[in-house]
Amino acid sequence: MAARKPLVMGNWKLNGSKAFTKELIAGLKAELAGVSGCDAAIAPPVMYLAEAEAALAGSAIALGAQNVDVNVQGAFTGDISTAMLKDSGAKYIIIGHSERRTYHKESDEFIAKKFGALKEAGLVPVLCIGESEAENEAGKTEEVCARQIDAVINALGVDAFNGAVIAYEPIWAIGTGKSATPAQAQAVHAFIRGHIAAKSQAVADQVIIQYGGSVNDANAAELFTQPDIDGALVGGASLKAAAFAVIVKAAAVAKA
Ligand code: 13P
Repeated sequence: MAARKPLVMGNWKLNGSKAFTKELIAGLKAELAGVSGCDAAIAPPVMYLAEAEAALAGSAIALGAQNVDVNVQGAFTGDISTAMLKDSGAKYIIIGHSERRTYHKESDEFIAKKFGALKEAGLVPVLCIGESEAENEAGKTEEVCARQIDAVINALGVDAFNGAVIAYEPIWAIGTGKSATPAQAQAVHAFIRGHIAAKSQAVADQVIIQYGGSVNDANAAELFTQPDIDGALVGGASLKAAAFAVIVKAAAVAKA
């Protein structure tokens, strides 16, 4: 099995400004110069993609975005298309984040459509999945993750996960400071990979499965010791260059 190169991505959520974008990226470029064992990406608000693309020039840090619409063009007020994201230099596009599933009532089927639109455009979907605290306590973690993955497999086939990224983000761990333990996360990651392997071992072997939920500079290294944790999707800690760089470097070291 070919080794998977880890990917650590920062999800800035609804944070930042033009000045913040320039300053944070300058810090990241300085901190991450010469780090090659882990792919790094940032997803600022789409408002700041232009500043981010310019500031990232000459760096290996990739650009991403936090959402996309399924429509290509036309009368869809307020939406952003795959072509616009591509035109703005974004490569990794987060879809299905629990905050969008919850606040914008996005369904599994709608998110699968976004997945297909991204694949068609040659962009990389970062599909967020994960259970709520109540679902976790009811022992439904695997059922929820399987359902969220199956929506994509049913719509597009398992091969759609070739070159794609999955982020396992238990909702109870997001922004709470209460990360899943490395063993807890590994068990779910192994389940997710096994679920895909039941359809295609080759697709399962290459798919990047990130962990997300209160990852920080203190807990990242231990999470990355787990064989099925291929990086992280980082919220709060991605807003500080030094902390985010520690996480990227920890993945590079752990997966070397
Ligand atoms: P935190 O790292 O702030 O818990 O956020 C995780 C997340 O939702 C990343 O998409």
